Amino acid sequence: MSLREKIEKLKEEKGAVILAHNYQTLDIQEIADFKGDSLELAIKATKVDANLIVFCGVDFMAESVAILNPDKKVVVPCKQARCPMAAQLTPEMVREAKKSGYPFIAYVNTHASVKAEADVCCTSANAPDVAKGVAKEKCFMGPDANLAAFASKKARVDVIPVPKHGYCYVHKAFQVEDVIAAREKYKDVEVIVHPECDVEVQNLADFVGSTSQMLKYAEKSDAKTLVVGTEIGLIERIRAEGINAVPLRRSVCIEMKLNTLEGVYKALLEEKNVVKVDETIASRARRAIEKMFKVME
Ligand code: 13P
Ligand code: SF4
Repeated sequence: MSLREKIEKLKEEKGAVILAHNYQTLDIQEIADFKGDSLELAIKATKVDANLIVFCGVDFMAESVAILNPDKKVVVPCKQARCPMAAQLTPEMVREAKKSGYPFIAYVNTHASVKAEADVCCTSANAPDVAKGVAKEKCFMGPDANLAAFASKKARVDVIPVPKHGYCYVHKAFQVEDVIAAREKYKDVEVIVHPECDVEVQNLADFVGSTSQMLKYAEKSDAKTLVVGTEIGLIERIRAEGINAVPLRRSVCIEMKLNTLEGVYKALLEEKNVVKVDETIASRARRAIEKMFKVME
């Protein structure tokens, strides 16, 4: 029996569900019951009725699923799959910023203890809407400064980044020169990028959006070539749909790639890598995530 068949069989026997982020390798995406961006995965997490959830992504995403499902068991293929950007914002930094009286929007790429201090959460798919929804004139957002700038421009409110220069190393890799070179190389081309890319790169793109928003854009685009500025997993996913997508530059999230099919099988079999969030923190973090869902209504 192949590893894939073993996973399918075990999943069936245990009545488990596998959720995977768009950056996971294609073999993991293929065995997932549901795949999506951070927002879609968080929404899906509120609708899952299985008691065992195998989450394939990074720590903050699995934590959000656990926070939203306190009575379910959430396991991960690899405990070391942690988003390094999440560590750039601490609960103390949120508390300090909030002394000014303005609301704090925590990007979901944060630890539960940070979400617990924030007024509301956002993802790359809804950051402008959340900023517009909670800020009269000004708000804070962190840790990604490029997402804060994107939200500020789109929502037309003052979004102050905390920390000042928080970033994702995977998206920092994309350069203005890459966009210029891509437009020279391909004739009928569209450039789509993630809002974690530098503002100068965003400004040269045809579309800026979350991973799933980019996928949807790609599915509708008539361009001969789509040049995509985000982690390589999404480009593989777009290509798997028969769309001619090329990377703006090959950039890999090492942490996302720590998950393997073998790891998924072991997680299902042993149920050892359980994601647990202390309920005193979880209840406050849940409030911030649920407020995000409310703002979107
Ligand atoms: P999305 O929510 O757009 O999938 O992004 C998650 C992420 O980690 C981007 O680097
Ligand atoms: Fe974190 Fe960047 Fe990896 Fe996304 S791509 S999980 S923000 S390090």
